Amino acid sequence: MKLDIVLVLDFGGQYCHLIARRIRENRVYSEIVPNNITPREIQILNKKYNVKGLILSGGPQSVYEEDAPKMNKEILELGIPVLGLCYGHQLLAHLLGGKVEPAKSKEFGITYATITKPVAILEGLGKTEKVWMSHGDTVFSVPEEVEVLAYTENTPVAAFRHKTKPIYGLQWHPEVVHTEKGMQMLRNFIFGICECKPGWSMRDFVEKAVQEIKSTVGEGKAIIALSGGIDSSTATLLAARALGQNLAAIFVDHGFMRENEPELIQQTFQNMGFRFITVNARKRFLEKLKGVIDPETKRKIIGEEFIRVFEEEAEKIGAEYLIQGTIYPDRIESGFRQFSEKIKTHHNVAGLPTKIRFKSIIEPLRDLYKDEVREVAEMIGLPKELVHRQPFPGPGLAVRIIGEITEDKILIVKKADLIVREEIEKSGFQRNLWQYFAVLTDTKSTGVKGDCRAYGYTVAIRIVESKEAMTASFARIPYEILERISTRITNEIPQVTRVVYDVTHKPPATIEWE
Ligand code: XMP
Repeated sequence: MKLDIVLVLDFGGQYCHLIARRIRENRVYSEIVPNNITPREIQILNKKYNVKGLILSGGPQSVYEEDAPKMNKEILELGIPVLGLCYGHQLLAHLLGGKVEPAKSKEFGITYATITKPVAILEGLGKTEKVWMSHGDTVFSVPEEVEVLAYTENTPVAAFRHKTKPIYGLQWHPEVVHTEKGMQMLRNFIFGICECKPGWSMRDFVEKAVQEIKSTVGEGKAIIALSGGIDSSTATLLAARALGQNLAAIFVDHGFMRENEPELIQQTFQNMGFRFITVNARKRFLEKLKGVIDPETKRKIIGEEFIRVFEEEAEKIGAEYLIQGTIYPDRIESGFRQFSEKIKTHHNVAGLPTKIRFKSIIEPLRDLYKDEVREVAEMIGLPKELVHRQPFPGPGLAVRIIGEITEDKILIVKKADLIVREEIEKSGFQRNLWQYFAVLTDTKSTGVKGDCRAYGYTVAIRIVESKEAMTASFARIPYEILERISTRITNEIPQVTRVVYDVTHKPPATIEWE
């Protein structure tokens, strides 16, 4: 039986992928497609799935700009329900003959919308709803055949529906948690309007991923970059299911791992039915990074060196394919999409050198968010300790040492990181946290230790709560815990004279400092 699917047309918005994810949370399958998809391509997809709905995502541009992303207008004639969100809302209004112009006052963040007609997409909602907006343009008017369903103080057409065709628009973002009834709005669309039947599950995902790896690699051999983090560990187990002994997992010890980590990874994976190889590349990475200060250069060098090590190992064992545990947020923030902004280069994505010697790179988790990966990990039997570990970036502690990386600094940040982990885990707080770690800044400051002047490093503590790492809040950790961390760091690490707590959300900061 064919699965129902809702396609999300990507117009470059930071939250585009969240839309697909929210739909999957309702057990309806969803995929992101380019915004210039044609009616013919939709018909081809229809052979594999039942295409039941289309959602146009947000995006950073203005519909009236010449180079703004457009869509094929004939899609609106297919009879498939279409919902536009933010930019998508403005684009639909524009295509239907409405007036879209810069807003008199831009709306970012929480706004209250007045629902004038609680029908269709707004079925079951109250008179006033808390919604999340992020837009500079506004739909000021729509033609006769379009009915306005809601407005806000600055947006006269905040929600609409076409009177005779299944076309809908919402100026706000129902996919972000800050829109209180956002999920209900999406459910109204996928179940009420598109009449999707829930049937998709993570099991389908596992099967699809295993099949994809099998059919790409065939009888060949592949290696996977295994860092011991949840993403690469999950990808490794998926690949092991597909390839068995034709898979070799390579763990590159670049020297920027946390205390005891290389040993833990070795113990966990060495007897799991695939080849497990550790490469000690500590010296080589450190040499390459000598004198490098710029964070993006660091990331690129690490990404490139990783690939070189893998290529060498692959050559030794005759592997032609590289599998990686890249997940969706890694890709989106690396700016891989045509109309979105680049934030930083995640080493396993855009850090890749352009000339690689593999036949292809396979990223089975490329469309998933971290908590979806956790679900897959549990399903395929990854040990519990690994499933619930905090995320750790591919470049490791190298992006937590500001300025030049030296052996001495690596030791300091390792010790500080261990103290943060021990104290947080002792307190039981980790259950609500996304990440908790130490950063070695390149700021030195004066202190006093044992009645003597001391001049040493400043360590910053970063502890955040998050759901998908796209946004994060600094955690309101009790002072007693912070005090214990600070006291231990300054007592146990002689080179540190000061400890500070990072109280910045993401955005505007990112989670890692580099
Ligand atoms: P940022 O610092 O971009 O981090 O807010 C978001 C999440 O991604 C992790 N991170 C990485 N993960 N390779 C990875 O696999 C990387 O290069 C990388 N950089 C950041 C970070 O720890 C956080 O959870």
